[in-house]
Amino acid sequence: MTQDEMKRAVAQAAVEHILKKLERDSIVGVGTGSTANCFIDALAAHRDRFAATVASSEATAERLRGHGIEVLDLNSVGGIDVYVDGADEFDPHLNLIKGGGGALTREKIVAAASREFVCIVDQSKQVDLLGNFPLPVEVIPMARSLIGRELAKLGGQPVYREGFVTDNGNLILDVHDMEIVDPKALERHLNNLPGVVCNGLFALRGADLVLMSTPEGVKTFKAS
Ligand code: A5P
Repeated sequence: MTQDEMKRAVAQAAVEHILKKLERDSIVGVGTGSTANCFIDALAAHRDRFAATVASSEATAERLRGHGIEVLDLNSVGGIDVYVDGADEFDPHLNLIKGGGGALTREKIVAAASREFVCIVDQSKQVDLLGNFPLPVEVIPMARSLIGRELAKLGGQPVYREGFVTDNGNLILDVHDMEIVDPKALERHLNNLPGVVCNGLFALRGADLVLMSTPEGVKTFKAS
């Protein structure tokens, strides 16, 4: 089974999972990335089963609209029933690293607005300890060097994602070799650095459910 086949399989499993819960007035939050794209493609056949979506990026909004699925501004909905998105890593506590695609800030906002967060991954994303994947940090452009120095003090090696501008007009530093012993504490600490817009740790609001594709089928992990 190829990685693409695994992504399509877990996307289909997520659609089946949410269809059990969706009502005609439900709002679905939709993530960003190649696995989320598979989810969008699988969701399209069921667009009459829910009211609309909220997208975590411009790219996702465009793909949803391309399928004839309505996309609403988060400010115009009362809340989101379920959010489906990929991740770059997940640990046994369902803490995540996200932001490989640079959409971390809007992803975190949509996750915060959602009653349920279903994370869809293939088995390459499963880790015991977060941090092998470089941790993305979105920063205000004028704070790039300041934040780079702060991240280096914490033991990480920040690398400027050259030529990339987020949907919010900011920059990304990808932090290599960061020791992430306490993901919640580090997420809070990074959030408090002036100039940081958002960091890719999703621990304070991790996933409620992880669906992980393997060649043997889709495995389910629930938050305890
Ligand atoms: C986008 O910014 C990310 O958070 C993605 O959810 C993450 O990078 C997973 O992407 P893939 O599904 O493409 O691996």
